[in-house]
Amino acid sequence: MQPREDGERFNPIVFRTLFPTQALDSAVYLDNAATTLTPASVIETLTHYYTHTRSTAGRSAYRRAAQTTHSIETVRSSFMQQLRCPPDYVLVFCPGATAAINMVAWSIAFRPGDNVVVTALEHHANLLPWWRYRPRGVTVRVVPVHPDGHLDATDVVHLFDRQTRLMAVTHMSNVLGVMPPVAELCAAARRRGILSLVDGTQALGHLPVNLAELGCDIYVASAHKAYGPTGVGLLALSPHALELLQPPILGGGAVAQVTREDFEMEAPPHGWEAGTPPIAEILGWGASLPVLRHATSPDALEYVAGLTEELVNRLKAIPQVTVYGAMPASARHGIVSFNIDHLSPHRVAAMLDEMYGIMVRSGEHCASLACREVLRVSQGTVRASLAPYNTPQDVATLVEGVRWIVQALR
Ligand SMILES: Cc1ncc(COP(=O)(O)O)c(C=O)c1O
Repeated sequence: MQPREDGERFNPIVFRTLFPTQALDSAVYLDNAATTLTPASVIETLTHYYTHTRSTAGRSAYRRAAQTTHSIETVRSSFMQQLRCPPDYVLVFCPGATAAINMVAWSIAFRPGDNVVVTALEHHANLLPWWRYRPRGVTVRVVPVHPDGHLDATDVVHLFDRQTRLMAVTHMSNVLGVMPPVAELCAAARRRGILSLVDGTQALGHLPVNLAELGCDIYVASAHKAYGPTGVGLLALSPHALELLQPPILGGGAVAQVTREDFEMEAPPHGWEAGTPPIAEILGWGASLPVLRHATSPDALEYVAGLTEELVNRLKAIPQVTVYGAMPASARHGIVSFNIDHLSPHRVAAMLDEMYGIMVRSGEHCASLACREVLRVSQGTVRASLAPYNTPQDVATLVEGVRWIVQALR
């Protein structure tokens, strides 16, 4: 079955046919913010590479390798188009968002007294790479976020000063699904000559990303949260970022020539891609693009917002259940964090799995500050995260499971 043609209304049943039936029918999969399921077209592409076209990329002259190189560059162009990347940006393939942010952190020449501005919503991937520089005199300034998930742009801008080297903010929280006013923040950073990094890891699978509108210098994301394979991600860099940052990893494929005395780097993006790239994963990610477009079409987003609203309203109606965040369902982007009074989120998640075959994430979701400082919970939350292949029946099963736990443990 092909992804939808323009003009057709979103149909979750059709969307489900794009995925292997076993993955969807054997359980109620509600952990999409951790990783999305893999479309059959991606699995076929990975298999085809290993069975038919296996060869290296960017290195050899024989035809099969040249074709693989060409295919990778085609995927790169497709993602630049998909992300509305300005033409003077470069898009680097890397192992994932965590790797991308660490690459940026390694490549900035921090000086004692510098500071980095982040928000309390950040995933550890966008916190710890900056904290590592604290012993060298770099301060990490954390912008507070209201318990409902709201962040004031002025609170961010107040933290900027002449020694702010970087603003690193999430495009979409992986705990609440909310989005800070990222375009406004990037414009404010740019006016002050501050480099801006946006962690788009959650956003990529949930909305059509437009880097030209966002105006950030650096954008990172992982394929596996947006219907692609594990082990690959992207790092988009503006001309300003390319001026300030040096490629952090050196080796084969990134150098134009090497002598005993010196070496000359390849121009970006290849100068930023030392080592053999994750070839199969890049090709597989390319194959996921029609599915991603389908999943982020206005109709699909509306469908997920409807399911989210249903889930939030029904959970809120259960005594002893707290649903976090006060935003409308459409601003949650399929993510619903909740707790049952006096029960650890891990226990709730384990019971949902054992009794109902429901898969949800529990704990701090690698975003400790969001849980402790924003939501003020000590053990994190239960997080259900929806994708367009989820159905009203999935929502009903989760609500039934939560009701059952509340009653059984009363
Ligand atoms: C907002 C956010 N940033 C970064 C990451 C790290 O992504 P990865 O584990 O794919 O490197 C995640 C993963 O949960 C995330 O949700």
